[in-house]
Amino acid sequence: MPLSSPVIAPSLLSADFRILQKEVESIEPYADWLQVDVMDGHFVPNLSFGAPVVKWIRTELPLDIHLMVENPADRLEEFLEIGASHITFHAEVVESLRDRRALLQAIRDGGATAGIAINPETPLSAAKDVLSEVDLLLVMSVHPGFGGQKFIADVLRKVKAARAEYPDLMIQMDGGIDKSTASRCLEAGANNLVAGSFIFRSRNRKKAIAALRGV
Ligand code: DX5
Repeated sequence: MPLSSPVIAPSLLSADFRILQKEVESIEPYADWLQVDVMDGHFVPNLSFGAPVVKWIRTELPLDIHLMVENPADRLEEFLEIGASHITFHAEVVESLRDRRALLQAIRDGGATAGIAINPETPLSAAKDVLSEVDLLLVMSVHPGFGGQKFIADVLRKVKAARAEYPDLMIQMDGGIDKSTASRCLEAGANNLVAGSFIFRSRNRKKAIAALRGV
């Protein structure tokens, strides 16, 4: 059954990179995971950071690596090496069941849990063949690449359908999530929320994270 309280995963992409460690420490007592948006400038039109930067972060929070990259298999080793707890790849770039299963296995062999992500325009059916095997489904509520974008409510349909079919699946949503959209995501059946700008632009980050939990 879905978790009573959702997992809240602040997205590092919206943090102040001049003081990255301090930014992580400002949310660490209140968050559950730390989401790291890895962008290659090919699968998404932005370039973010890789393991050479992330390895310098000291945190107790599980690292949730969101691979927005054309070749996720090439990135696994470096992130598993720095202790990633969870790694998500995109259905749009790994299409065959064989390749998906190989990736899931490689992530798990490295000691992490494994997830598959679908973009707003990608139907749930595109991930169907592995939904009973993944640890997490990430339903993007923005077109990946940048923080601070507007929530695409249309994707809630996919969340509802996934929750109805997979009552025990961790369903994560990511993109444009703030106090008001968070409650709609939870209502639709998501139980893991990623938020960047809503948290890191808040003066009171403890309150912002509590607001996402619906408290
Ligand atoms: C978008 C990233 C999101 C983004 C979330 O490509 O995957 O994680 O950083 O930022 P907000 O919460 O500002 O939409």
